[in-house]
Amino acid sequence: MIRPLLMVGLMIALPAAAMAADARRDTILADYAGQARKVDPAFTGFSAQRGESLFRAKWTGGDARTPSCTACHTDNPKTAGQNAKTGRPIEPVAVSVTPKRFTDMAEVEKQFGRDCKSVIGRECSPIEKGDYITFMAGQ
Ligand code: HEC
Repeated sequence: MIRPLLMVGLMIALPAAAMAADARRDTILADYAGQARKVDPAFTGFSAQRGESLFRAKWTGGDARTPSCTACHTDNPKTAGQNAKTGRPIEPVAVSVTPKRFTDMAEVEKQFGRDCKSVIGRECSPIEKGDYITFMAGQ
């Protein structure tokens, strides 16, 4: 009697956790959209395609060890990465594989700050950040 109840409980709890994560990610995206509209009144929305270009592009402005986001996060967002500087493992960045991705604004801002500097040699703009999350949310 207890087992079926536990199953039903899990069937309700797991999607609920994923939905709560989605809501937190949507809040972060809405925040970046607000910032994007301030810098560019013509802004109409984020683009997964631009996010993918940002992810795969080879840049020259940053640290020579990390010319691309893929240097640590690999070519495939669904696979685990490895920090090119420290060798430490990194969980996959695709939201379908790691549902808690991009759900904590402080963490998201800290890593964009660090990683965009390392790869591109400058801060990422609010549009670039929203595009990147939009791409990963669809992966
Ligand atoms: C030097 C290795 C390295 C490179 C290159 C790198 N990252 Fe990361 N990234 C990390 C690490 C380490 C973390 C933190 C651990 C984790 O989230 O699993 C992380 C996490 C993130 C997060 C936070 C994810 C979350 O769930 O909140 C974002 C956003 C991010 N990276 C964006 C980028 C972008 C954009 C690029 C390319 C411009 C990039 N990263 C390139 C190492 C890297």
